[in-house]
Amino acid sequence: MEQLTQQQVRQYYGQQLQTQQDLQTNACCTDDIPAEHKRILAQLEPEVLEKYYGCGVAVPPAVEGCTVLDLGSGSGRDVYLLSKLVGEHGRVIGVDMTEEQLAVARRHIGAHTERFGYAAPNVEFRHGYIEDLRTAGLEDNSVDIVVSNCVINLSTDKEATYREIFRVLKPGGELHIADVFADRRIPESLRQDPVLYGECLSGALYTEDFRRLLHQIGVRDYRLTASRRLTIGNPEIEEKVGNIRFYSLTVRAFKLELEDRCEDHGQVATYLGTLPGQPHAFVLDDHHRFETGRPMLVCGNTAAMVSDTRYGAHFRVTGDQTQHFGLFDCGPAPAATGSADDAAPGCGC
Ligand SMILES: C[S@@+](CC[C@H](N)C(=O)[O-])C[C@H]1O[C@@H](n2cnc3c(N)ncnc32)[C@H](O)[C@@H]1O
Repeated sequence: MEQLTQQQVRQYYGQQLQTQQDLQTNACCTDDIPAEHKRILAQLEPEVLEKYYGCGVAVPPAVEGCTVLDLGSGSGRDVYLLSKLVGEHGRVIGVDMTEEQLAVARRHIGAHTERFGYAAPNVEFRHGYIEDLRTAGLEDNSVDIVVSNCVINLSTDKEATYREIFRVLKPGGELHIADVFADRRIPESLRQDPVLYGECLSGALYTEDFRRLLHQIGVRDYRLTASRRLTIGNPEIEEKVGNIRFYSLTVRAFKLELEDRCEDHGQVATYLGTLPGQPHAFVLDDHHRFETGRPMLVCGNTAAMVSDTRYGAHFRVTGDQTQHFGLFDCGPAPAATGSADDAAPGCGC
């Protein structure tokens, strides 16, 4: 069954879909594209754009100079977007199992390299399987960031895929994905439907099973940066899925040793306003918006996320984890001026 589904997915993306017009539902669509991304996307080749089947913004900030891996890179839209964002000294690797998609992506390498003014390409597209990234030659601890846009729902072995992601990420590296999730487990009969599966619906993980899966592989805290209820826009398919609700979620997680609950160590984090294009605030997740210069009391996990990662250069974090004050108090703290005692409200974990 697993092998069959993988073949069906390859057939769906290699032959059945030629452009976005062939999609049968609204699941693969993206809104809230940042202005900076729009400016770059306007420079991409039409064929790359019309074969884009993503469901969100999978690209995090502060990627300049990074090595980024895109799982299920398709026609290469996010790889080329990242090509520009990482700059000439960064590197982007796209992995996909569908030769037709790889062929589209590869034939535009020269045009984009020239358009971005690079002396040599900073992107490559490799054939491989996201469940076993050794098939694409990816070593342990070799990439700074893993992105993926509307792909992991299609994986026939999601645990293997997430294990692989955390194998290839460097310590402190970031996973940043947009993907389809469901509010309940999908019945096997729907999982067997090649159109529902191919349209990124019936392979979607139930959100609580996603949490359990990450916990099982040692990822004890992850954050949501965006959430959107998906409409289907096809009465026949709506009838089949009945009461199941689907969401496009953008999830961020780090290769860090974190705790399974938010613990209070009295740490305070202040965003310095230095991330490119983000002078006023940095949004870590749906409940942490760091205003520039404003100290925030944070839990131990959040402190690690903004200090032991590439964001560390953009934050001042005071305190360490030698002291412990119990579970992190998610209630509002007094107004900010500088110390742990008067920091702004922090975690709502
Ligand atoms: C919905 S499309 C998204 C493509 C691209 N990320 C985008 O945003 O346009 C899914 C892509 O993932 C690839 N894919 C699905 N399962 C895969 C797997 N197990 N290993 C590698 N690639 C896979 C498909 O070939 C297809 O190109």
